[in-house]
Amino acid sequence: MHYNGQPISDTNGNPIHAHGGYMLRYGEYWYWYGEDRRGDSYVSCYRSADLHNWEHRGTVLSANSPTKSMRVHSDLTLRRKNVGSNTTPSLNVIPPEAGKVNIERPKVLYCQKTGQFVMWAHYENGENYNAAAACIATSDTPDGEFTYRGSFRPYGNMSRDCTLFLDDDGEAYFLSASRDNADLKVYRLAPDFMNVDEEIRTLFQGEYREAPAVFKRNGKYYMLSSHCTGWAPNQGKYATADRMDGRWSLLTNFGDSTTFLSQPAFVLTPDNGRVIYVGDRWGGGGAAYFDSTYVMLELQFDENGAMHMEYAEESAL
Ligand code: DGJ
Repeated sequence: MHYNGQPISDTNGNPIHAHGGYMLRYGEYWYWYGEDRRGDSYVSCYRSADLHNWEHRGTVLSANSPTKSMRVHSDLTLRRKNVGSNTTPSLNVIPPEAGKVNIERPKVLYCQKTGQFVMWAHYENGENYNAAAACIATSDTPDGEFTYRGSFRPYGNMSRDCTLFLDDDGEAYFLSASRDNADLKVYRLAPDFMNVDEEIRTLFQGEYREAPAVFKRNGKYYMLSSHCTGWAPNQGKYATADRMDGRWSLLTNFGDSTTFLSQPAFVLTPDNGRVIYVGDRWGGGGAAYFDSTYVMLELQFDENGAMHMEYAEESAL
């Protein structure tokens, strides 16, 4: 049994570090990717056949990962540039001497067209949150070492908290907070998932939404997000639309005023009709980051598709 707000152990008995993450179904396994800030690691991958017992497959992106530029204007920096500088960034959780940048909220899709696993994440330089960029990494296998392909700003837009969504028609979307988090951009990806192909919406103007998570149920698109309060939890809200590039509704509350002390990471829709919210219960910045846990709850829907989230001690996965 796993409990909300309690560490979840992998099959070796070690706590799972996979924050701001995403679960991808490939073959007979689910792959859980997420932030793992231990040592030189950026992203860890766990795999499970039952969504409950997770085997740590290892670090798939680290400060030592191979790099290969995808375009002229992508920045391949995977190590912090100003190690030893006396800046004391207030938001950064990684000590400067670690020489690491920040890679947050990694999501991975399998691109059928290229046979590549393509990771998108939020990139910061390790000193502050001013880079506000997206980054990409790719691999031939779901749990092998990814090659870092660089960071960039989509169409020059700032890009912080982000997510990916793969629709049943094969179109993939990248969503990220822009304009210093004031707005949320929705981009359709190129067929190889290696670039944005079109900026299709600017949502929630001036609402400062973070932590976007998208899923589809009964032909309707749902987007969960949080407000922007650093590591502190706040009231989760969601919006709906009939098309990704259509009109999105106004924001409606779900869960309680702190989203049960969590912030959305992703929503899982396994084939059995369940819809599962996965959130991070952040420990905070600094060393407390490593005490972060998870909140996993089954989402409920009424006959009109309105979404509700009740608290349960037991984790939904
Ligand atoms: C909220 C974001 O959702 C997190 O991913 C992280 O960037 C923190 N802010 C940092 O304060």
